[in-house]
Amino acid sequence: MSMNTIKNADDYKRFYDMSLNDKEAFWSEVASNYKWNRPFEKITSGDFNNLDVKWFEGAKLNITENCIDRHLEKRANKTAIIYEANNPDEESLHITYKELHSRVCKFANVLKDRGVKKGDRVIFYMSMVPDLLVGVLASARIGAIHSVVFGGFSANALAGRIQDCEATIIVTNDAGFRGDKTVPLKAITDEALKSCPTIKTVLVSKRVGEDIQMIEGRDHWLQPMLDQADNNCDPVYVDSEDPLFILYTSGSTGKPKGLLHTTAGYMVWAGETYKNVFQVGEDDVYWCTADIGWITGHSYITYGPLLNGSTQVMFEGVPTYPDAGRFWEATEKHKVTHFYTAPTAIRALEAHGLDYVKSHDLSSLKVLGSVGEPINEEAWDWYNKNIGKEKCPIVDTWWQTETGGIMISPLPGVGKFLPSFAESPLPGVDPIFVDAEGVEVTGNPAEGNLCIRSPWPGMARTIWGDHERYRQTYFSTYPGLYFTGDGAKRNEQGDYRITGRVDDVINVSGHRMGTAEVEDALNQHEDIVESAVVGYPHDIKGQGIYAYVIWNPQSKNTQDPKQIHKELNDMVIKMIGPIAKPDKVQVVSGLPKTRSGKIMRRILRKVASGDSSNMGDISTLLNPEVVEEIKNGAL
Ligand code: PRX
Repeated sequence: MSMNTIKNADDYKRFYDMSLNDKEAFWSEVASNYKWNRPFEKITSGDFNNLDVKWFEGAKLNITENCIDRHLEKRANKTAIIYEANNPDEESLHITYKELHSRVCKFANVLKDRGVKKGDRVIFYMSMVPDLLVGVLASARIGAIHSVVFGGFSANALAGRIQDCEATIIVTNDAGFRGDKTVPLKAITDEALKSCPTIKTVLVSKRVGEDIQMIEGRDHWLQPMLDQADNNCDPVYVDSEDPLFILYTSGSTGKPKGLLHTTAGYMVWAGETYKNVFQVGEDDVYWCTADIGWITGHSYITYGPLLNGSTQVMFEGVPTYPDAGRFWEATEKHKVTHFYTAPTAIRALEAHGLDYVKSHDLSSLKVLGSVGEPINEEAWDWYNKNIGKEKCPIVDTWWQTETGGIMISPLPGVGKFLPSFAESPLPGVDPIFVDAEGVEVTGNPAEGNLCIRSPWPGMARTIWGDHERYRQTYFSTYPGLYFTGDGAKRNEQGDYRITGRVDDVINVSGHRMGTAEVEDALNQHEDIVESAVVGYPHDIKGQGIYAYVIWNPQSKNTQDPKQIHKELNDMVIKMIGPIAKPDKVQVVSGLPKTRSGKIMRRILRKVASGDSSNMGDISTLLNPEVVEEIKNGAL
């Protein structure tokens, strides 16, 4: 571990204060942990008013040189990746830093041969196979911009993302393994590409052996090209603010936003937050169970661990295959020391009972992590007692796709580890609470809308192709502040607790869904007159999706509620993917609307959460009579 790891409460205080009061000195020191081809001239410029934020300006660098090359002197034969396949009988693969270097170089040369240049967009639509991680790094090696689309998204969702960033090349698998199923990734890609004329090349990494269609001239098997490629590829040095990746996320309107992260600030943020939050030692084995298709898999599989020279497990499968002991079996097998997962997985495994845990030796574990949604106290206690055996700190890490890396989290050796508290802002993070009017809420205890007061290196710089939407979404609600969309509390001691979204975004199994995006999908059905989607508390998923729909009463198609639900599920699967399927569908004759035509979601949320005792003031409704009907028909 490098010199400036936070090891105790004094370090934390010193680093935190310095990060806000003497930015120059703090970030200069932090930056010295990284390799720069040309040093930066200025630590930071720009603010939340001009929205022209820059970090480490003037520098040239390549992030893969920081992830791989610079470790080769000391760690060439150290394992970088332990690959654990979906099927536990498949032998796990160990990839050393030296091998990773050669694989990334080969892949980078293949991309170059296909004409990919700096700034071009490369889409990855894959399962969790080594070629995904290697491909993403290869893209960064040549200065291209990667955009990973989660393998659970539909052809339509994939096409929308490709069109938005006008990618020229896509890398996929013939198919992917997922538990006892396979996902026909290439066939879905083919479907998507019917409406994506910018794509000229499809590279197919073979995984399942699925019978697929290959289009002459466009589609190529990846492996033979890798076999032919040279295993050296000089990194392309890019400017600090050159784009590194685009990652799409769901928001309060129907169209996903392509958040753009740039190179130097993101690298430093991913690297430093990983180092301080997990404190992974040289001989430790870290495992983050996320998919690279989400931001967690970008910052805490692809970049953070490699920037720090760690050994990590990369897992292809799901927590319950072949049974609910899979995580613990693999933890025992690889002597995992640091384990990072989502509350939804913890709750799902808790529901399967302790037998799956007890049969495994988990004594290697040192630190546990949680991410993606608020962790409820019961799940926290279960995790702490049964997995951590009450000796492992649990880092409950709050952050977002937009923040690039962890923002608020207790640190090992520093935190108090209060159940369901994210506790303390990391150095460089300046949180502030405001009330609905934007007035700062000071003192402790306190409650408010969570905003950030000043730029940090890892923040997304824009929404691809739509800077105005970026301003509107994050910086217009409370001018001069970044609004996270989350509500939060501070206790008497100032420890932070994130309570969840206060906007129209819901968190389903740790996956973020804009209700508007689901509504857009539902509205594609010819018999839907109007729909409104809200979240409701769900035992395993955290939040479930509750859809209120007005179904054409004249429809000859069907009037059977079960059939309606099925048809709407099919529509959502087609438009977005299975993760966005509504759990409940209630057919209603009208939606509660204000006189200005706005749906009063507060009422819908109350009914969906099973509490329709007190509806509050409904006198401003245009159609108050509909409230009774909705209450009576609650599912
Ligand atoms: O509501 C917060 C919740 O997840 C949102 C961000 O989702 P996404 O961009 O998909 O990134 C997820 C992985 C970082 C946040 O606005 N969230 C994330 N982590 C936590 C959390 N809520 C409470 N506690 C957390 N630890």
